[in-house]
Amino acid sequence: MIRINEHYLKLQASYLFSDIAKRVQAFQDAHPDKRVIKLGIGDVTRALPPACIEAFHAGVDEMAVDRSFHGYGPEQGYDFLREAIAENDYRAHGTEVADDEIFVSDGSKCDCGNIQEIFAHDAKVAIPDPVYPVYIDTNVMAGRTDRWQGERYGGVAYLESTPENHYIPDLPADPVDLIYLCFPNNPTGATVTHEQLKQWVDYAKEHKALILYDAAYVSFIRDDSLPQSIYEIEGAREVAIEFRSFSKSAGFTGTRCAFTVVPKDCTATDAAGRTHPLHPLWNRRQTTKFNGVSYPVQKAAAAVYSPDGQAQTRELSDYYLRNAALIRERLSAAGLDLVGGENSPYIWIRTGGESWAFFDRLLNEAAVVVTPGSGFGSCGEGHIRISAFNTYEAVQEAMKRIEGGLQ
Ligand SMILES: Cc1ncc(COP(=O)(O)O)c(C=O)c1O
Repeated sequence: MIRINEHYLKLQASYLFSDIAKRVQAFQDAHPDKRVIKLGIGDVTRALPPACIEAFHAGVDEMAVDRSFHGYGPEQGYDFLREAIAENDYRAHGTEVADDEIFVSDGSKCDCGNIQEIFAHDAKVAIPDPVYPVYIDTNVMAGRTDRWQGERYGGVAYLESTPENHYIPDLPADPVDLIYLCFPNNPTGATVTHEQLKQWVDYAKEHKALILYDAAYVSFIRDDSLPQSIYEIEGAREVAIEFRSFSKSAGFTGTRCAFTVVPKDCTATDAAGRTHPLHPLWNRRQTTKFNGVSYPVQKAAAAVYSPDGQAQTRELSDYYLRNAALIRERLSAAGLDLVGGENSPYIWIRTGGESWAFFDRLLNEAAVVVTPGSGFGSCGEGHIRISAFNTYEAVQEAMKRIEGGLQ
């Protein structure tokens, strides 16, 4: 008799985005003449940069001719892309990463979801709260947590981001093995300094733990004093895996391309205490379960590193950062307490009451949709997330309406 993986039954259904959609629909039905402005979803709104489109087309044309056709590619990604990534995103910044430490994939969601497979079933996991839900749900599915206990899963070390710690979690009180960190953060928009990140790297070294560092929003960092990569911290190559994506940096959310860095110095132990490098494990996982990203998409991604691609992707993130700056400026002036939005496309606002109540207020009084913070974890209660992914004009209009509605 075939039985299910019962850990799936522990999963809490996520009604966040369907609840939002239902409330928006009800509002729209009651006010068919009102134009709702959506500042809720973390999806980009602007087209792919011209340099990527040109390379994408050229890649497709190559596929049309026997001579230049590409069948299965290397599971780890084509050399031209791995080299461009390692050179431009790391070595050009003085950070040591080799071409073959880059694993190209079809998204950071898959990578940060799949990576836990290579670690022990009983690894103690530390997960941020509020959180990008993939980190926690994939560990629940794998049976690395206990049951849902009303607000949280048992057996997980939650790393709380609160107003008191300025949304940078403290080190765990009890030892943990696997640590998920995300900076610039989704949903809080918080960023981490070298000193703060060094504490985590030192912790990982001391406790023989491993950090999974999600840098999906690194392209929004404008403050040169902030670390772009965890590998800027001494010793991080031994204790950290880093995830990056072209989704937010170059508008690839629908095109799908990302990468994971697994340094060859990164190790973990087996039950007998013997040390093993993680690079061959992840390589084995990917070559067994993944067949690579399509050739034209990798060509499009490599174009990000051309001079035109660099200028155009910079312009893209500048555009969203201009939206974020406007949101910050206008909502701070309206007296709201907020963080994020300076080196991040997300603004995290304290609502002074329940997240959903504030959500309803903004919907009903301003026809603006945001995301209730409680949907990201219990520390998200009392907050909302505003996303800068929209047109500047829509953001201007939304701010005008919110100012009017809050008076
Ligand atoms: C923190 C974080 N990591 C990873 C991802 C997934 O990115 P990708 O589109 O590469 O799967 C997202 C997407 O919203 C995200 O917010």
